[in-house]
Order: sequence, then structure tokens, then C-alpha cells
Amino acid sequence: MRALVTGGAGFLGSSLVEALVESGHDVIVLDNCWRGRRENLKEIEEKIVFIEEDACLASSYERINNPDSIDIVYHLAAINGTKWFHEEARMVMDVNLNSTLTSLQFAEKHNARYVFTSSPEAYGESEIMPLGGNESSVFSAASHHQRHAYGASKYLGEIAVHHAVRNGLDARIVRPFNGYGPRLLGDAYGQVVSMMMKSALEEGFIVVHGDGSQTRSLTYIDDLVSGIQQAGEGDGLTGSSFNLGSEFEISMLELAQQISKLVEQETGTLPELVFEKGHPGDSKRRCPNLANTMEQFAWSAMIDLEQGLLQTLRSML
Ligand SMILES: NC(=O)c1ccc[n+]([C@@H]2O[C@H](COP(=O)([O-])OP(=O)(O)OC[C@H]3O[C@@H](n4cnc5c(N)ncnc54)[C@H](O)[C@@H]3O)[C@@H](O)[C@H]2O)c1
Repeated sequence: MRALVTGGAGFLGSSLVEALVESGHDVIVLDNCWRGRRENLKEIEEKIVFIEEDACLASSYERINNPDSIDIVYHLAAINGTKWFHEEARMVMDVNLNSTLTSLQFAEKHNARYVFTSSPEAYGESEIMPLGGNESSVFSAASHHQRHAYGASKYLGEIAVHHAVRNGLDARIVRPFNGYGPRLLGDAYGQVVSMMMKSALEEGFIVVHGDGSQTRSLTYIDDLVSGIQQAGEGDGLTGSSFNLGSEFEISMLELAQQISKLVEQETGTLPELVFEKGHPGDSKRRCPNLANTMEQFAWSAMIDLEQGLLQTLRSML
């Protein structure tokens, strides 16, 4: 197959591109390197075509040779990272929404299958757990905080995808639940596992937001990539949504403690825990509803947290 991967230089995208190349597909990456890096693809750079352009602009897609031969578009380009949601709400909305509309239009024009990378944040502050079925999304008043610039952009992206499905496009939606693994950036903009590891290694402490009782289902990159690929490659999945997440939940306090122990084991120094105020709108709990995913292609997360954390930490040493 010939695949276009937007956001293919980022954390999830680069691993997906590697897996697609490994499976024998021709891959074109469209990424403006806003947060992703070409270096993430250095081991396969000879085997792919890299277009460094903005996925929001239709003109960027004109650089693709023979666009009618693209079989599938995996759309991952987005602004991701909680601090951005608050600081740059309008930029988050602009990029996430416009890149989705433009890539969707490209897929429609060239009759390519489309896989949209949404997020559990598309459900906003819904407290229904497990999350990701037919329940309604819950967004707080816009005057309270602007965090849902991200979640709402994913929600609107899902609406756009379902509209395209209604008009005949073969499109699917995936929702990764808190991915982690090598290449995950640990700067101030996220995400949690690598932020904790980076500050443990470089500053000697780990920041826990609030009292640390909020839980997440952390999912290792290889599991997410295999789920995204299966969602893209399976037949008869038009209009389906797939939550991809581990069923094992961990509180952020327990995560910090576990990372702290692993850092001591690997470096001989035990980082301390520091408690700080969290971001407004952070959900208390997030675990995936896997009913549809397991029914359609028997996916579940295989890599256990301790093993995944150790692999991630070692990639940072
Ligand atoms: N990592 C997770 O746990 C997670 C969870 C849910 C959803 N997602 C979604 O998965 C996708 C990938 O996330 P990630 O964690 O790899 O983030 P990431 O920031 O590492 O990757 C996003 C990529 O998009 C690129 N990009 C940003 N704006 C662009 C633009 N205008 N044109 C072209 N490229 C642009 C960035 O340079 C980056 O390479 C995103 O859509 C994100 O919302 C990720």
C-alpha cells in the first residue's frame, strides 16, 4: 500500500512510519517539524519521502507525486501538549481543525482510506468510565479555562470524519490513551511519563500535579502503533471508532513513585517528589472502553507498565 502520514515525524507518527515501512508499504511523511523531528526517522530516511510542509494547507499536498495512488491517509498532525492548550488555545484549534479538514479533503479527492487520530479528550470532562462509547462529551464553560481547545478540536474532527463517511469515504477513528515510550518529549509541554523522567534525571525531582490521585491508562508506543495499523488495514471498518489503551490504571502519585524507584535502580540516585498545582480541566480518571476495538480486531495492550517504563527510561540515559 502507499500511505501518507501527516505528523509522521512526531512521537506516535515516527513509530507508525517505521512499522509501515517494516510491513513493506511506501510511505510519504507530511510534517512541518513544529514539534516532530526528522531525526526521529533517521533509520529509515532513505526508504521514505519526507515533505516538510504545513498539513493545514492544500498546496502542501500538491507536492505529493501521483496522489491518486495513495491508498491510505493516517492523519496525526496536531498540536499536542497540555500547556499549549491553555497558552495557545486558538493556535491549537486552528492547526488541529484545519489540518483535519484539509487532509480529509485530500483523502476524498483521491479516494484514499482515512484514519483520524482523535483522543479521549474528545469526551472532555465526561466522568463515564470506561470512556469512549456512545456517551456525550462534556465541556465546561469556555470562560473557566480554554483547555478544551484541544479536546473540542478532536470532537469536531470526529464530526468531520463522520460527515465524510456519510458522503462515501472509508474513514476510521482511533483514540490513543496516554501513549508513552522512546522519543516522547519531556519538555514543559508534556507528556507526563517523559516529563517525570526528564526532570528526575536532570533536576533530581519529579513534579506531581495536585495530590496525584488522578489516574491514567498509560499505553506503550508499540501497542498503540499496532492498534492504529490494524484500524487502518482491516476491511469493513468504515465509520468505526477504536479506543486504544491499556486497561491497567495507575495514579499519577504511584507513577511518580515507580519512576523514582526505576531511576534509582538505573542511576543510583533517588529523585524526590514535589507537589504542584495541576492544570484546570484535568480529568480525574481516564480508562478506555475497549468493547468495539476488541470485537473488531482483537487488540489489547501487551506491554506491561514496568517493562515499558524501563525501556523508555533507558532510551533517555
Ligand atoms: N501521544 C498520545 O498519547 C496521544 C493521545 C491521544 C491522541 N494523540 C494524537 O496523536 C497524534 C500524534 O501525537 P503525538 O503524541 O505523536 O504528538 P507529536 O507532537 O509528537 O506529533 C505531532 C506531529 O504533528 C506535527 N505537526 C504539528 N503541526 C503541524 C502542521 N501544521 N503541519 C504538519 N505537521 C504538523 C508536529 O511537528 C509533530 O511531528 C496527534 O494528533 C495527537 O493529538 C496522541
